[in-house]
Amino acid sequence: QVPRPAFRLLSCPGTVAADVRSEEHLVAKPGSEDKAPKKRFSEVQKERREQAQRTVLIHCPSKISEKKFLKYLSQHGPINNHFFYESFGLYAVVEFCQKDSINSLKNETHTPCLDTEAVIPFKSRFFNLKLKHQSNRISEPLCTQSSSQSPPSSKKLFELLNYAESMDDQLNTLLKAFQLTEENIKLRYLTCSLIEDIAAAYFPSCVVWPFGSSVNSFGKLGCDLDMFLDLDEIEKCDVHKNVGNFLMEFQVKNVPSGRIATQKILSVIGECLDHFGPGCVGVQKILNARCPLVRFSHQASGFQCDLTTNNRIALKSSELLYIYGSLDSRVRALVFSLRFWARAHSLTSSIPGAWITNFSLTVMVIFFLQRRSPPILPTLDSLKSLADAEDRCVIEGSNCTFIQDLNKIKPSGNTETLELLLKEFFEYFGNFSFNKNSINIRQGKEQNKPDSSPLHIQNPFEPSLNISKNVSQSQLQKLVDLARESAWILQQEDRHQPSPSSKRPWGLTTLLIPTAGSKFLPKKKRKKPVSERVKSLLESIKDNSPESSTNTDGK
Ligand code: GTP
Ligand code: MG
Repeated sequence: QVPRPAFRLLSCPGTVAADVRSEEHLVAKPGSEDKAPKKRFSEVQKERREQAQRTVLIHCPSKISEKKFLKYLSQHGPINNHFFYESFGLYAVVEFCQKDSINSLKNETHTPCLDTEAVIPFKSRFFNLKLKHQSNRISEPLCTQSSSQSPPSSKKLFELLNYAESMDDQLNTLLKAFQLTEENIKLRYLTCSLIEDIAAAYFPSCVVWPFGSSVNSFGKLGCDLDMFLDLDEIEKCDVHKNVGNFLMEFQVKNVPSGRIATQKILSVIGECLDHFGPGCVGVQKILNARCPLVRFSHQASGFQCDLTTNNRIALKSSELLYIYGSLDSRVRALVFSLRFWARAHSLTSSIPGAWITNFSLTVMVIFFLQRRSPPILPTLDSLKSLADAEDRCVIEGSNCTFIQDLNKIKPSGNTETLELLLKEFFEYFGNFSFNKNSINIRQGKEQNKPDSSPLHIQNPFEPSLNISKNVSQSQLQKLVDLARESAWILQQEDRHQPSPSSKRPWGLTTLLIPTAGSKFLPKKKRKKPVSERVKSLLESIKDNSPESSTNTDGK
């Protein structure tokens, strides 16, 4: 019953295993607290970026001798790590030990000549390998099976969940099957690095950082790749360089606002990606959005990319979520399952609209975990109080300071199971006074809502903003109804695995089946109308859960 890896390593187990060990804090082992020191977000980002800069992406012939391939590339220097994957063809990601090797490889590479079309001679780190002699074709197969980077199918997931031993095991199994793999993370950083090379044609010291779910520890296989084009790094380098009596400045063009500058920069980079970027297709410039962006597909990696600039607070939000996700192994398992639950019931969607986003849902989970007794997660204010001078961070007037070294944060003494937390989450938000209260992870307590938006979740770094402003009353109601129904199902359900070979969905699986688990419940329960079930749920909550009713300020 081992899941087929979503992103199959086609070869070289030795080298990758060694590398995975050094980065294992990112691919957490669910259910077991990792005692090894955890890296800071900025350390991870810098290390991964440096690694990506020594890496190339090669489109390979479908049948190729791995041994000969590596021997050929090793002419340019030692290889630290490599793997193959399939996505509309066979690709290799090859990480050299030294950056110089890439120049050597580039010097030996030529631009193709086409008979009927002309080429744009942009020399990137994305190559195409061709066989000169048929003898290089393999006699020994490189891979017996090819695979895509997509996550396991729903059928596979339900199989895995049914074979789990307990509900806690189910939540951890879901996390394990869908979290980003080491190779997928490498490919994400490599894709950013390739885009950085293109943007660097205009802004030589720019950095393209991944942010959002690719790096915040909550990413699932197949999630989009959010990129932040960082031009401030250039400014930072320039500070204090001028000595003596004079101050030298660059002559620059001025525009009326930061937003216009952002739009102009993204417009040009978008054109550049469209016209010169190997593998960048479907480029859309969405410059009038609240946060202007360029959206495109990176064909070789299969990632849907959103490139933004002037969006540093989002990068800081990703760091905050990374800290919360790394503090306690239950956090990611719970968030993954709830994101799945929300998606399964169409509470979230990949299309923007009046529904809740994964980001808002994650903040709701964090808030809920701050409200447990004892709390599982600290408030943002307490993370701020632990900060020292080097952690100080103010972005466009917003104080975004919090401790960056997560090893200095005291672990929680709370030992509640995932099963209990999931049930309590549904009860908590099934009864939350959304009409009166706002969710605030800075203080870890409800606050009076400052406006009439149906769902109010305070932006952690810009307190006057609501991150769920887009959510309509009917979508909120749907969330509340489903939370109540899920709490009810968990109360009614025999949450123990029926028998290892039974096909009957149980535990988490019942919650992930759209149109309610009721379809799968025993007939006598199925007949009960929803309104009646909700009523009985409310009654049972009132009767059974004094703690939750005091906590939740029930409706
Ligand atoms: P996925 O749905 O897996 O892509 O999750 P995600 O966390 O990557 O969300 P998304 O791609 O929508 O947004 C990327 C990042 O932008 C988030 O992680 C947040 O840091 C930030 N972000 C998204 N929406 C908001 C918002 O409404 N307000 C603020 N302040 N930041 C947001
Ligand atoms: Mg995203």
